Amino acid sequence: MPAAVVRPVTAVDDPLRAELLACWTDVSNAGGAVGFVPPVTPEDVAPVLDRLLDGVRSGRDVLCVLSEEGRTVGFAVLVGLAGPLRRHWGTVLRVQVHPSRQGEGLGRVLMDGVHEVARSRGWEFLHLTARGGTGVEEFYRRLGYREVGRVPGAIRVAPGDDRDEISLVRPL
Ligand SMILES: CC(C)(COP(=O)(O)OP(=O)(O)OC[C@H]1O[C@@H](n2cnc3c(N)ncnc32)[C@H](O)[C@@H]1OP(=O)(O)O)[C@@H](O)C(=O)NCCC(=O)NCCS
Repeated sequence: MPAAVVRPVTAVDDPLRAELLACWTDVSNAGGAVGFVPPVTPEDVAPVLDRLLDGVRSGRDVLCVLSEEGRTVGFAVLVGLAGPLRRHWGTVLRVQVHPSRQGEGLGRVLMDGVHEVARSRGWEFLHLTARGGTGVEEFYRRLGYREVGRVPGAIRVAPGDDRDEISLVRPL
């Protein structure tokens, strides 16, 4: 398998934005828990992606792009906090690997890279949330995260199908 790499990106050009949009749309339509329930179109995802990229372009947040032979196969975003009392940690959002490449260890490569980027910013720990009922918290547990709480029923994926939002943290 060709080596996959993670690079921190603070300037997102149009070709990269198109790759991110295609990835997020495909991940969502494959049932991934990244802010949507299927079916979605690129038009549904685009405004949410653009809000995410606003934070990256502002310099506060960092996009971590997972690529293989120059092709984007996944990404995540590190979000910093503005308040002066919370500059020592950050939140990870929208962790995803393209559905055609899941289950091959690339999620671990992506998160190892995310942790490296966060360490280079001087952060001491990371926080993220996972959608209950997906089993994805086990992925994070294997990477050193521990559950610190959950908001019962915070995520309504459909009428009558409310899921917990699980908070996890990991020291860096
Ligand atoms: C979650 C996701 C990023 C994991 O990436 P991946 O490339 O499939 O994961 P890996 O192959 O690197 O798996 C790493 C380890 O986690 C485990 N794992 C991965 N996904 C898992 C899941 N959903 N449930 C339980 N364990 C899981 C793997 O078995 C593997 O275990 P090992 O270390 O014992 O071998 C990917 O499946 C994805 O993009 N899912 C859709 C989007 C999503 O739901 N993101 C989570 C947002 S909170």
